[in-house]
Amino acid sequence: MNTLELASYGPVIPVIVIDRLEDAVPLAEALVAGGVRVLEVTLRTPVALPCMEAIAKAVPEAIVGAGTVRNALDAQAARDAGCHFAVSPGYTPEIGRVCQELGLPLLPGVATGSEVMTAHADGYHFLKFFPATAAGGIPMLKAFAGPFADISFCPTGGITPETAGQFLALPNVKVCGGSWLTPAEVVKARDWATITRLAREASALRP
Ligand code: 3PG
Repeated sequence: MNTLELASYGPVIPVIVIDRLEDAVPLAEALVAGGVRVLEVTLRTPVALPCMEAIAKAVPEAIVGAGTVRNALDAQAARDAGCHFAVSPGYTPEIGRVCQELGLPLLPGVATGSEVMTAHADGYHFLKFFPATAAGGIPMLKAFAGPFADISFCPTGGITPETAGQFLALPNVKVCGGSWLTPAEVVKARDWATITRLAREASALRP
């Protein structure tokens, strides 16, 4: 898979933290019901890998990927769990090489021109701009468009339903990432109807 394909399913990729394995499938189903199919499940909880595995098996409409992939072991584990892609918060040549060896499409994180150049030199043309708001937000993405006209971005970090539209209007932004579709308290309450509503609203950000 070319990671740019991920942007073709909708305007927002939810960045998901799951604490209870039993929440994984209903949460994924709730997002899919709201029109959100690309799901980034972060490797931040002890159950993250079994959650990815469960979603990959039980929710065929979902395109599940692993977020917070920081090293070779993370990438290997994500691939073994059935993930379709990986997202890293930063970029190292090691993570770039390992994902290529594993055949695991990677959306690598960058925040500076040097990181863009390093990831691009290793063959990555679609990059996660992280942490988007803290690292310069929309002005930074506009500035990147000059020297990096052939590179597109998935800004993530600090984006809200109110600001997402402004990011998505930039020509070099293909999709946004954010945790607002799966608020911790809503997941804790197993309020899947609210998750579906948030997903539907996010899907409508770009008709
Ligand atoms: C993350 O990795 O936590 C994402 O960037 C999500 O950021 P957000 O919570 O600000 O949307």
